[in-house]
Amino acid sequence: MNNEQYILAIDQGTTSSRAIIFDHQGQEVAIAQQEFPQYFPKPGWVEHDALEIWDSVQSVVSEVMIKSQIKPYRIAAIGITNQRETTVIWDKATGQPIAHAIVWQSKQTSDLAEKLIADGYTELIHQKTGLVIDSYFSATKIKWLLDHVEGARERAQRGELLFGTIDSWLLWNFTGGQVHATDVTNASRTMLFNIHNLDWDQDILDLLDIPRAMLPTVKESSAIFGYTGDYHFYGVQIPIAGIAGDQQAALFGQTAFQQGDVKNTYGTGAFTVMNTGIKPTLSQSGLLTTIAYGLNGQINYALEGSIFVAGSAIQWLRDGLAFFEHASDSEKLATKAESTGGVYVVPSFTGLGAPYWDQEVRGAMFGLTRGTSRAQIIRATLEAIAFQTRDVVDTMVKETQLPLSRLAVDGGASRNNFLLQFQADLLQTTIVRAQIEETTALGAAFLAGLAVDFWEDQAELVSLSHAGQQYQSKMSATDANQRYQGWQRAIQAVRFYSH
Ligand code: G3P
Repeated sequence: MNNEQYILAIDQGTTSSRAIIFDHQGQEVAIAQQEFPQYFPKPGWVEHDALEIWDSVQSVVSEVMIKSQIKPYRIAAIGITNQRETTVIWDKATGQPIAHAIVWQSKQTSDLAEKLIADGYTELIHQKTGLVIDSYFSATKIKWLLDHVEGARERAQRGELLFGTIDSWLLWNFTGGQVHATDVTNASRTMLFNIHNLDWDQDILDLLDIPRAMLPTVKESSAIFGYTGDYHFYGVQIPIAGIAGDQQAALFGQTAFQQGDVKNTYGTGAFTVMNTGIKPTLSQSGLLTTIAYGLNGQINYALEGSIFVAGSAIQWLRDGLAFFEHASDSEKLATKAESTGGVYVVPSFTGLGAPYWDQEVRGAMFGLTRGTSRAQIIRATLEAIAFQTRDVVDTMVKETQLPLSRLAVDGGASRNNFLLQFQADLLQTTIVRAQIEETTALGAAFLAGLAVDFWEDQAELVSLSHAGQQYQSKMSATDANQRYQGWQRAIQAVRFYSH
């Protein structure tokens, strides 16, 4: 063991980029964060400028190196984790993106997804990729760019254009254009990747007219992908040795290595992921089958429930309704009200994800009276995050028959004690908050560290992870179920209204 070596993790998220240095104990040594612009060219569309993302990553990396005073030769490896599905296409010769990146949340390809469903491809896509057909995944976004940017398809066929999710884009830039690759977790979010034979699926590529030549090579999540080019770290070539999509990285960072382990990350959205072991379990109720990680020649699969609006509902209360100044105020204000007084907020602003997959639904509030207060609406919005999580967790438990003994949680909104207590009440289970808040980055660091023998094995990682605060249920099961039934009625009502 060499205490003087560190791992640099890069967490490229939907609204900000972060660089974090971890030591051999898995403790955070220094962190830098930077937001970058979001583009909303039309209602429902969300785009990023991939060059701005790359700039933000370079600046947080420089900042964290300066802050920590750690010399580049003491960085044993770099791990990358990223917002998933977001689609970049760039010119191989110049490195210029051909258009803005289409972000996972963007609805600009809903029609393409609807058409695939109407044409009867649901079962085929589900069997091959483990996913439900939705504009959320990269496939329709790639097709859209090839259809809309002049000459793009022909250039892609000639091998002049490259596609990547954000991990590939960063890797390609860090390696000075030498490496065009991704990992199995990111590939499993494209809706083009066959999760059984671990290859891009020719039938789906043909269906969407996507040339194979533009796709990255797919590797395990813990592997040496390439080395940083000369000019990034004063000539020190650091191996990029771990890559995973952010939700999978959070699962890994929580050391949820056993079959049946579940984590929930409360970020912009909330993503509940269960490790289902070495065989894929196909869901019949709208959960996604996805790759958890590829390590030592072995693939671990997961079931995922993707909730599109979680922390962003708190942002809406703050920015849209001006109910408070800081997201953290929501906890204090929510507890000012003794109860919601029967109010339910359904924050389905961009449709409903798992287990409903309903692109058309929009949000609503129910049960308002003349006496409804701001505090009650805030409380009901926080509760909605927990209700959506119960929708997903109940489905997971039902489908896998694996009991939920505890739910490991992380992400920005997991700082909210009211939310976590209500989550424990509603699920009638123990909630365990991660001690290290940056679990996602830690997961990427773990994957990179394993590949370069900085850490020996998963058992060593488990010994490094410490649980933070725990929350036990204080509500009776009858009360919890009654509250949940009210939520289910609210969901039925918004779906009825939106169609
Ligand atoms: O699937 C989308 C997810 O990866 C985005 O995560 O944390 O950037 O909102 P986040």
